[in-house]
Amino acid sequence: VSDMLVDSFGRQHTYLRISLTERCNLRCQYCMPNDGVELTPSPQLLSRNEILHLANLFVSSGVSKIRLTGGEPTLRKDIEEICLQLSKLKGLKTLAMTTNGITLLRKLPMLKECGLTSLNISLDTLIAAKFEFMTRRKGHERVMESIDAAIDLGYDPVKVNCVVMRGFNEDEICDFVDLTREKPVNIRFIEFMPFDGNVWNVKKLVPYSEMLEQVVKKYPSLKRLKDHPTDTAKNFKIDGHRGSVSFITSMTEHFCSGCNRLRLLADGNFKVCLFGPSEVSLRDPLRSGATDGELMEIIGKAVKRKKASHAGMFEIANTANRPMIHIGG
Ligand code: GTP
Ligand code: 5AD
Ligand code: SF4
Repeated sequence: VSDMLVDSFGRQHTYLRISLTERCNLRCQYCMPNDGVELTPSPQLLSRNEILHLANLFVSSGVSKIRLTGGEPTLRKDIEEICLQLSKLKGLKTLAMTTNGITLLRKLPMLKECGLTSLNISLDTLIAAKFEFMTRRKGHERVMESIDAAIDLGYDPVKVNCVVMRGFNEDEICDFVDLTREKPVNIRFIEFMPFDGNVWNVKKLVPYSEMLEQVVKKYPSLKRLKDHPTDTAKNFKIDGHRGSVSFITSMTEHFCSGCNRLRLLADGNFKVCLFGPSEVSLRDPLRSGATDGELMEIIGKAVKRKKASHAGMFEIANTANRPMIHIGG
């Protein structure tokens, strides 16, 4: 990869997460502040051509994986064209998406045809009434159907992201694990993380150690798999199960030393760390005619400023960041 994407700790940033929109068709409590969020006026959002221009720049510099996020990425009207154009970028190996699955059933065959290679679907509960409480919208059935549709279309594994919160869903952990018996799904239990407006509280955090204990009690054959150094997830498998189980331990055992991620937000801001407040606009220089070389210099400088790791859960809970819905995870 280009030197511009290597930080001062030698981490190579080959994974770009692009937030395509700040809008969402759900209102998840851990993601969207209670009193809503301000939406960036649309002229200030990146156009499709601007996204493609910047993505091309990153891929020519060594990015091999792009994940589309939001808000909810499928709400973008030109999602088909964006996927198609991105998938044609030479050097891109993985075109992934993280989605809430609400409108996926209808769009999935088209997305697959347009080159989407991997799919992560968010689902925090197996109980419809709890889904409506957490997301403040209906749609549980549709998400379940989308997961099955993704499996039928050959996505393997379909990753299912489950944010675990005390008093909400920690009693469902083993029910989620049970899904891996027959389905080629990778269930990923995620520690609840603090973002602006999501009323994070350590009491709502269910630590990895506790989740693991629950699963091992029911499934003593749970075995740790070898993870890739850049994985966010610690991966496990149960004897005889088709799927697998993982834990994303951002709060109690961060994985920053293997971090290979960069983020481009819908408003064109570039963010080198999920929890770092520092952002730099790529939209403004792009619109005022910066050359690709000049853009890469701005990118390179930001990457070189990236910190070794985030500063621990209490510190990030007290540091200004954006609401999760603007960042996309
Ligand atoms: P893969 O690319 O399939 O490995 O997925 P991913 O984990 O990179 O992305 P996904 O959008 O599915 O995110 C799952 C969870 O991991 C979310 O809670 C994200 O916020 C979190 N996550 C993703 N990237 C990072 C990261 O760089 N740092 C931290 N701390 N958490 C991350
Ligand atoms: N803590 C942990 N994970 C979160 N996500 C959204 N908000 C949070 C949070 N506060 C997850 C979503 C989605 C992914 C992009 O991030 O469930 O799967
Ligand atoms: Fe990378 Fe920052 Fe996440 Fe750590 S907290 S893994 S440095 S994005």
